[in-house]
Order: sequence, then C-alpha cells, then structure tokens
Amino acid sequence: MLRQVGTLHDITDRRRAEDEARQMQDRITHFGRISTMGEMAAGIAHEVNQPLTAIATYAQACQRLIGTGEFSADEIAEALAHIGAQALRAGEVIRRLRTFVKNREVRRELIEANRLLEDVLTLAQTDARHNGVHISLEAAPRSPLVQADAVQIQQVILNLVRNSIDAMQGVPESRRQIVLRTHVDVEGDVEFMVADRGPGVDPSAAADVFNPFFTTKPGGMGLGLSISRSIIRAHGGKLWCTANPGGGARFFFTLPAITASAGSSQ
Ligand SMILES: Nc1ncnc2c1ncn2[C@@H]1O[C@H](COP(=O)(O)OP(=O)(O)OP(=O)(O)O)[C@@H](O)[C@H]1O
Ligand SMILES: [Mg+2]
Repeated sequence: MLRQVGTLHDITDRRRAEDEARQMQDRITHFGRISTMGEMAAGIAHEVNQPLTAIATYAQACQRLIGTGEFSADEIAEALAHIGAQALRAGEVIRRLRTFVKNREVRRELIEANRLLEDVLTLAQTDARHNGVHISLEAAPRSPLVQADAVQIQQVILNLVRNSIDAMQGVPESRRQIVLRTHVDVEGDVEFMVADRGPGVDPSAAADVFNPFFTTKPGGMGLGLSISRSIIRAHGGKLWCTANPGGGARFFFTLPAITASAGSSQ
C-alpha cells in the first residue's frame, strides 16, 4: 500500500515535471514565433504610424498656408524641417526594430532620463495639441542617467502617451491632462510614469492589456503595450499600470540603476 502511494507520488511528480517542461517549450516556441517576419511587420506598421501621421499633418498645414496665399518662406521651411525629421525618425525606428526583433539586442548608451521625456514631449506635442491635451513634465532633480536605446525608450513613452491621448477623447477638455514623470525609486532604479485623466483601464481588461493584439479600439492593433513591455524587459526593467488617484490610468516602467562598472564601460 505504502509502496503504491509512493509510486503514485512519483507519477504525479513526473507528470508535473513533464507539464512544466511542455509549458517551457511552449513559451520558447512562442518566443520564436513572435520574432518572425509577421510580428516584425506588425511592429513596424505600428511604430511607423506615428511619424507618418505627423508628416501628413505638417504637409496639410503647408498646403493650408499656401492656399491662404499669406505665408512666409520661414513658416514653410519650418514645416518642411519637421517633415524631414519625422521621415528620418521613421527610418531609424524601422532599423532599430529590425535589429531588436532579430537578435533581441539592446543598443545601450548613457542618456539622461529627463532628456528622454523632453524629446517625447517635442515629438508628441502636435498630436496632443490637436486633441486638446495638455502634457506637463515632472522631471526628477539632477536628471538621473540610464543605459538604454534612446529611440526604443522614446517609442515606449510615445506609445503610452498615444494611449493616454486616445483614452481622454471622451472627457471634458479641462481634464485632458497628461503628466510625464521621472523619479528614482528606493532601489535606485529610474521610474518613468505616464499618467492621464481618462476613464482608466477597465478592471475586466487589466490582465489582458499587455497581450499582443488585445485592443478595445475600433482602429487599434493592440500592439503598443506588448511591444513596449518586451522593449522594457529587454532593458532589464518592468512595465505595469495602476489606477490614477482621482481617476485615469498611470503607466510606469523602470530602467535599472547604472552600476559603476556599467557606467565606466562607456
Ligand atoms: N491610458 C489608458 N487608459 C485606458 N485604457 C488603456 C490605456 N492604455 C491602454 N489601454 C487599454 O489597453 C488596450 C491595449 O493597448 P495597446 O496600446 O496595446 O493597443 P491599442 O492602443 O488598442 O492599439 P495600438 O496597437 O494602436 O497601440 C487599449 O485598447 C485600451 O483598451
Ligand atoms: Mg496603443
């Protein structure tokens, strides 16, 4: 009898080990699958959409100006400079995403965390203004340094800002506010926050929002958060969301503190 119980235990243990091995294999296969062309194409389509929209907006502005017959060459030149910069950015996004999906490699450079927020503010300003959204910065004093791929981290922040702008379309204009914040946490990691005053993440969807292709938007691809999470994980950080006290959503991510050896390897 005892022997039988022992055998049963052995069988259960073996089954559990087999199950775990299978789950691990599934995860590896999934990881392999998402690194395929399909995922890459979807990722590129998603990330390049923002610079393309900006290019279209600036081009329309130029046409409008020319249509009025009252414009200065400076105004047109400025819009063209924006168009050129956004086109270069689109090319860079494709290049980085291609390397990233292929090798899951992160290019690391030492950058100021606050600088990343300021760059995103510049990139997102047209879109925000267009939607009556005000973005404010709460930058950590003595801008902490992070070691990261700047273009990819900007992309993560842009994805979060874009989601916040989308989420606030239905709220009164006085509430359409986004706060971008950097902060050094107790472990010395740099924590970034994007907070909005929209309806917040629906509790029934909270577990799913980071899954690829999960979307509640008619035109959404459901990729922004899943791409962002894999970028942050590849940097050794975490990405998560909580409710904003007073209503809305708060998305956070961390980037590891710079160690002395990481700093000196530059
Ligand atoms: N700030 C937010 N407030 C409320 N809900 C949000 C917010 N950010 C994300 N969500 C929810 O999470 C879902 C997934 O977001 P995600 O960015 O991955 O995809 P998406 O925005 O729907 O499409 P896209 O691929 O264009 O980014 C959204 O459809 C929305 O339901
Ligand atoms: Mg999105």
